[in-house]
Amino acid sequence: MLFFALLLEVTWILAADEGHHWTYEGPHGQDHWPASYPECGSDAQSPIDIQTDSVTFDPELPALQPHGYDQPGTEPLDLHNNGHTVQLSLPPTLYLGGLPRKYVAAQLHLHWGQKGSPGGSEHQINNEATAAELHIVHYDSDSYGSLSEAAQRPQGLAVLGILIEVGDTENPAYEHILSHLHEISHKDQKTSVPPFSVRELLPSELEQFFRYNGSLTTPPCYQSVLWTVFNRRAQISVGQLERLQQTLFSTEEEPSEALVQNYRAPQPLNQRAVFASFIQVGPVYTTGEMLSLAVGIVLGCLCLLVAAYFIAKRIRKKRLGNGKSVVFTSVRATTEA
Ligand SMILES: *[C@@H]1O[C@H](CO)[C@@H](O)[C@H](O)[C@H]1NC(C)=O
Repeated sequence: MLFFALLLEVTWILAADEGHHWTYEGPHGQDHWPASYPECGSDAQSPIDIQTDSVTFDPELPALQPHGYDQPGTEPLDLHNNGHTVQLSLPPTLYLGGLPRKYVAAQLHLHWGQKGSPGGSEHQINNEATAAELHIVHYDSDSYGSLSEAAQRPQGLAVLGILIEVGDTENPAYEHILSHLHEISHKDQKTSVPPFSVRELLPSELEQFFRYNGSLTTPPCYQSVLWTVFNRRAQISVGQLERLQQTLFSTEEEPSEALVQNYRAPQPLNQRAVFASFIQVGPVYTTGEMLSLAVGIVLGCLCLLVAAYFIAKRIRKKRLGNGKSVVFTSVRATTEA
């Protein structure tokens, strides 16, 4: 009896430790996550599709200040293929200002698609995904002792989401990560990379962002994340994107399985609000609306011109006319009053 109890305990500990196997597609894919990880089926999940005409402008949102991001220190950083993504450990000397509490950095990782397929980012803006997305994960170090402790508490984590699109030139900052991928092509492989300025991975302008309460985008999907998604994008070259898509495997050995399309589909917003640090984004008007607006403006100007013309004409007539008529007008005005 004791033996069975022990066996049960051991099995339970192993299961709890390793967690259930999960993937993005197939029998353990994202649609099946809630069966093993109930919180994945809850109502404040991430990512989301941000509809810019439904966001709430919040003029009180303080600017987000990354501290220590451009002073990378002297210690090398661990880069790890965990089978789900490529992850870089970050020291707590990197932290965020402009949030309700102090959040220190723990790690960053990427999500991406597959060569020849559109999409790859987790968050979308107005139904539009980009090629990849960078997540920089921080935890509330004032309230919690570690990332894993904070990860299960409301607003225990703060994650920065950076949408990455393809641009014309190679992005040297992303090269600090991408140039090492071949050293960790298989699951559980690790390497260390020289410290670099993490600030350079972010878009150059940080003023425009969206803020909402959400979750981890992978099991166990804890709803503990205060999200900041930047409106501006970072850019990498098509060659860099292809290296991200083609170097890594999600398996330890043969048969190798490519680590691709590791992004979760947008989740229902439900009752949540999305706040924006800025007023307007993207095209506010459709082409039709723009056209009617233009016609309206032209017509309005025409009316003003015509009115001005007639007023000017009247004034001129008055000035040319004799004093008598002016006196007459004013007399009539007084009698009428
Ligand atoms: C997140 O949820 C907390 C607790 O309900 C709330 O106080 C806070 O205003 C929310 N923040 C955002 C950005 O929605």
